Amino acid sequence: MPSYDLIVIGTGPGGYVCAIRAAQLGLKTAVVERRATFGGTCLNIGCIPSKALLHASELFEEAGHTFSKMGIGVAPKLDLKAMMAFKDQGVDGNVKGVDFLLKKNKIDGFHGAARIAAPGKVEVKGNDGKTQTLDTKSIVIATGSDVARLKGIEIDENRIVSSTGALSLPEVPKHLLVVGAGVIGLELGSVWRRLGSQVTVVEFLDGVLPGMDNEVRRQAQRLFEKQSMTFKLSSKVTTVDTSGKRLKATVEPAKGGAAETIEADVVLVAIGRVPHTEGLGLKEAGVKLDERGRVAVDHYYATSVPGIWAIGDVIAGPMLAHKAEDEGVAVAEILVGQAGHVNYDAIPNVVYTYPEIATVGKSEEELKAAGVAYNVGKFPMTANGRAKVNLTTEGFVKILADAKTDRVLGVQLVCADAGNMIAEAALALEFGASAEDIARTCHAHPTLPEAVKEAAMAVAKRAIHM
Ligand code: FAD
Ligand code: NAI
Repeated sequence: MPSYDLIVIGTGPGGYVCAIRAAQLGLKTAVVERRATFGGTCLNIGCIPSKALLHASELFEEAGHTFSKMGIGVAPKLDLKAMMAFKDQGVDGNVKGVDFLLKKNKIDGFHGAARIAAPGKVEVKGNDGKTQTLDTKSIVIATGSDVARLKGIEIDENRIVSSTGALSLPEVPKHLLVVGAGVIGLELGSVWRRLGSQVTVVEFLDGVLPGMDNEVRRQAQRLFEKQSMTFKLSSKVTTVDTSGKRLKATVEPAKGGAAETIEADVVLVAIGRVPHTEGLGLKEAGVKLDERGRVAVDHYYATSVPGIWAIGDVIAGPMLAHKAEDEGVAVAEILVGQAGHVNYDAIPNVVYTYPEIATVGKSEEELKAAGVAYNVGKFPMTANGRAKVNLTTEGFVKILADAKTDRVLGVQLVCADAGNMIAEAALALEFGASAEDIARTCHAHPTLPEAVKEAAMAVAKRAIHM
């Protein structure tokens, strides 16, 4: 019977990164994965395929609308099958990359459903139905998350889809009804709108992207509306009638009231994700869950059972790939007695729409609620030279800095390439930089990140280009 120092259950960005770091640190490591390929939600049905479609559909839209403004005459024609093949190729390259990295680090990979038979014992039921038990000193649960479902509305991944089905629709729906104006609703809604769908988004709360800075949320909604996405806010979908050729969704005010029927070809349910804990034998093993069904851990990712740890989407915190990765590294280091640590105040959050929306640190509402006095520096992209010449003047950069110390507390970007630009802001937060530190850092010209420098100067009311 094989025996390991560490078995990681799940090979998403949390699990596979944890396994690699553990192997680097000298632990004899194995991973168990239920899917046929490694890489988890992120690589197979999440970050990677969605970004492939966002990239391709953005170029499609640019070719149709912006190229002519730059003297490029083309009439783009959609070949959806080929676009899907392009996406699948991207996924394939990435999951093969993880397979290569696991082998390179001499990590044993098992395919099958894992169950914790007892601390130190992991049972793996292979797809052939055969079960084997592996011995290990430590177990890391990195089983990620699954789609949250709406009561009474069955996802068939055909006409009523989750993000997984929405990444592989065989044709462009005439009308796509999205339930939930969160990250998935806006990203995948953008993909299909660019490819020709009319998109209506039904959101329970009174604005898009709950949890983000209110100014960002308002600006984002305005920009999506300009792109002809329709929002039905403070509303909920209660039923979807699938009996006819077209779907008939019943939409009601969130607080109750007169219902209306909206016809659609496809309904995308994107109301969040739930931790993936079933079938793992957690109850029998004594592993405690928190009030929201996530595996409860302490500051060191230790569960209630010695020798069993947990990271990523299955524990508390933002459900983001980079958060899972950093926790994977931290727990591996903790296992060998090092001081693994994640700074939860400096985790960037990016929505890969056009324009992109990227934030790190606190929002204005969070600072107000905490009673922290702050200064705001804001710079509009209309005043950035590179944005002007690129015809990407939508949005702004906003920096929130402590009123007393000038330390950067939060950075909000709504602009083209915000997802890349937020790295500078995350570094600033991690290093405890002041707004003046950013303002005095030389930024290459002409670039979009100059808007970050200008916003930092605007904190002290000395922006140059405004
Ligand atoms: P996962 O990636 O969910 O991996 C868990 C793995 O465990 C899965 O492969 C599962 O099969 C396996 N598993 C579960 N139970 C068992 C078991 N009993 N035995 C064996 N294996 C098991 N995040 C970002 O940061 N950026 C993005 O752009 C982004 N885009 C996304 C787009 C979509 C459409 C979705 C759905 C998510 C996106 N996310 C994104 C979120 C991101 O995918 C997750 O935060 C991330 O994958 C979490 O990593 P994880 O390792 O915790 O779990
Ligand atoms: P989400 O939590 O971002 O958004 C869900 C939205 O649905 C919220 O606005 C919520 O108010 C709304 N909602 C909930 N119940 C509803 C109901 N009954 N009717 C109408 N609206 C309802 O969740 P989403 O978009 O499903 O994404 C799941 C997670 O995946 C995100 O939390 C994120 O962490 C991760 N993700 C990250 C991405 C990125 O980093 N770019 C991309 C995609 C997903």
